[in-house]
Amino acid sequence: MSFFQRLLLPLGLSLSLTAVDAAVIRQNSDLRSLLSDPARQWSDATTISYPGSSEFTGATERWTIFDPPTYTAAISPGTEEDVIKLVNLARSNDIPFLATGGRHGYTTTIGDLHDGLAIDLSNLNSYSIDSDAGTLTAGAGVRVNTIMDPVYEAGYFLQTGTAYCPGLIGVTLGGGIGRFTGLYGLMIDALVSVRIVTANGTLIEASESSNSDLFWGIRGAGANFGIITEATFQLNPVPNGGNIFTSDLIFPANMTNEFFQAVESYNNVFPAEMAGIVIMSWDDTSNSTVLLTNWIYVGSEDDARSALAPILNLSPPYLTTQMVTANKLINSTFNNFAAAICTEGVIRDIHSTNLKNHNATTWQSTFEQVADFFESHPGARSGAVQYELYPNQAMNAVSSDATAWPWRDAIGYFQTAFSWDQGDDATASASATFAQELMSEVVETSGYSDVTIFVNYANGDEKQENIYGADKLPRLAQLKRTYDPSEMFSWNNGIPTQYP
Ligand SMILES: Cc1cc2nc3c(=O)[nH]c(=O)nc-3n(C[C@H](O)[C@H](O)[C@H](O)COP(=O)(O)OP(=O)(O)OC[C@H]3O[C@@H](n4cnc5c(N)ncnc54)[C@H](O)[C@@H]3O)c2cc1C
Ligand SMILES: *[C@@H]1O[C@H](CO)[C@@H](O)[C@H](O)[C@H]1NC(C)=O
Ligand SMILES: *[C@@H]1O[C@H](CO)[C@@H](O)[C@H](O)[C@H]1NC(C)=O
Ligand SMILES: *[C@@H]1O[C@H](CO)[C@@H](O)[C@H](O)[C@H]1NC(C)=O
Ligand SMILES: *[C@@H]1O[C@H](CO)[C@@H](O)[C@H](O)[C@H]1NC(C)=O
Ligand SMILES: *[C@@H]1O[C@H](CO)[C@@H](O)[C@H](O)[C@H]1NC(C)=O
Repeated sequence: MSFFQRLLLPLGLSLSLTAVDAAVIRQNSDLRSLLSDPARQWSDATTISYPGSSEFTGATERWTIFDPPTYTAAISPGTEEDVIKLVNLARSNDIPFLATGGRHGYTTTIGDLHDGLAIDLSNLNSYSIDSDAGTLTAGAGVRVNTIMDPVYEAGYFLQTGTAYCPGLIGVTLGGGIGRFTGLYGLMIDALVSVRIVTANGTLIEASESSNSDLFWGIRGAGANFGIITEATFQLNPVPNGGNIFTSDLIFPANMTNEFFQAVESYNNVFPAEMAGIVIMSWDDTSNSTVLLTNWIYVGSEDDARSALAPILNLSPPYLTTQMVTANKLINSTFNNFAAAICTEGVIRDIHSTNLKNHNATTWQSTFEQVADFFESHPGARSGAVQYELYPNQAMNAVSSDATAWPWRDAIGYFQTAFSWDQGDDATASASATFAQELMSEVVETSGYSDVTIFVNYANGDEKQENIYGADKLPRLAQLKRTYDPSEMFSWNNGIPTQYP
C-alpha cells in the first residue's frame, strides 16, 4: 500500500483497492494474534513462522515456483491434535489455508491462494511397518524416499511414483501412477485406510468398512475433503526376490524414428512387468535434442532381455543395463537423474494428457517439433517433453466403480514440462503456446477424444470433467457437500458442491 493510500485510510476515503489492502492487513495481524494466543496450547513440536525467516522458507519452499500460493504465516503442527485445532481455528475465522506434504504439487489452481496460512505437515513424519500384516502406516510428512529402504528391508515393496522426493500421501491422493501399475495397480489400490480431519474438525477413519463413501472419494480426489494425518498401505512381497532389470538408452535424433517404430511394434500390449520412460531433452554436449529412455522389467535378466528385445536390439550409442534391488530402482534410473528432477525452487509449467495408444507417427512428429523448439529457444532448454509408458493390467483389474479415480484404461501419460529463467517472458509465452499445440496433436491419437488427466498431473487449466470424469462428478459433489460444504479444501482443482 502506498503512503498516499495509508494517509487516506483514517479519513474513510478508501478507494476500492485500499479497502482490499486494509482487509488483508487486518487479517494478517489477526492471524498472528490468533496463532500466537497462548490459549491455543500447541504441542511443543509445533512451530509458527513468518515471511523473512528461514523457518518460514523451510515450511513453504516448493518444487515449482510457477504460480505459487502466497502466505502471511506458516505453521508446522507437531501432532494430530494440533491439526484438529488448526482446522477449527481456520474454519471459525475464515482463514484460507493450504496443507502440504512434500510440496511437489504443481497444479496452478493453488496459486489462487493469496495471503493464506501455510500448514506444513512435515512434522508428522513417523511411519511403522507391521511385518506380519505386511502393512505400512505413514504420516503426512513422509516422503516417497523415507520408506524405500525400510520397506525393502522388511521384505516388502510398495508401488510408488517414479521420483523419491514427493510426499507419499500427496502422490497417493491423486491416484499414484508409476512403473508398477501393471503388476500392482495404483497407489490408491494399496491404500487400506486413512485418518482424516474433515472440515468440521472431526478426526475420522476412512476405509472400506468405515466411512466407505468418503474412502471412495479420497482415492482419486483426496485433497478435497480434509487433512489426512496418516495412511495405511498394504505392501506387496518383494518382486522377483527384490531384483529388477533396468536399462538406460539414449537415442540421437537420427535414431528416434526406428525407436518409435519399435515401441509401436508392441501394438499397445506390454507385459505387466515392463515399463518405460522417454524424455525429449536438450543435450549440451551435442547441441541437439536427444531421447533419454529408461526401460525396466521385473524379472530375470533373460526374461527382461527377451521382453525388451525390440528396444535393446536397436543398440543406440549409449546403452547400459543392470539388475538393481527394488529399493534402489528410483535412484538407479538414468544414473540418479531423479536427484536433478527433485531440485526445488525452479519455474516449471506442466501439462499432461493420458494415453491409450502409443503412436509412432505422433511421437516422431512431437520429437521433431521439440527439437526445433529447443533449437530456436535457448531459454527453454532446461525443459523436457516426456512419454511414460506404464502398463495397466493390475490397475485395470480393479473395477472403475471401486474408486473415484477415472482413468484405469490409460497405458501412458504424455507430459510437457517447460522451464525458463525468472523474467524471461518471451520463453514463458512461447512455451505456453507450444505446449498447447503439442497437446492438441497428441490428444488426436491418444485414444481419448479430449485432454484427460488425473489430478496429480493436472495443470489446472483443464475442465473438471477432464480431470475427475463426468460420471464421477455427481458422487464427488455429494461427498464435497457432506464433508467440506464451505470448500475449505478446494485449492487443488476443487470439486464443486453441486454437479451438474
Ligand atoms: C518430481 C515429481 C515426480 C512425480 N512423480 C509422480 C509419479 O510418478 N506418479 C504420480 O502419480 N504423481 C507424480 N507426481 C505428481 C505428484 O503426485 C503430485 O505433485 C502430488 O500432489 C505431490 O504431493 P506432495 O505431498 O509432494 O505435494 P503438496 O504440494 O504438498 O500437496 C499436493 C496436494 O495434495 C494435498 N495434500 C498433500 N498432503 C495431504 C494430506 N496429508 N492431506 C490432505 N491433503 C494433502 C495438498 O493440499 C495439495 O493440494 C510427481 C511430481 C513431481 C514434482
Ligand atoms: C547418427 O548421428 C550420429 C551423430 O549424432 C552419427 O555418429 C551416426 O553415424 C548417425 N547414424 C546414422 C545411422 O546416420
Ligand atoms: C555447442 O555449442 C556451444 C556454444 O553454443 C559450442 O561452444 C560447442 O562447441 C558446441 N558443441 C558442438 C559439439 O557443436
Ligand atoms: C536417492 O538419492 C537421493 C539423492 O542422492 C538420496 O537423498 C536418497 O536418500 C536416495 N534414496 C535411496 C532409497 O537410496
Ligand atoms: C498413428 O496416427 C496416424 C495419424 O497421425 C494414423 O494414420 C496411424 O494409423 C496411427 N497408427 C496406429 C498404429 O494407430
Ligand atoms: C462432522 O462431519 C462428519 C461428516 O459429515 C459428521 O459425521 C459429524 O457428525 C460432524 N460432527 C460435528 C461435530 O458436526
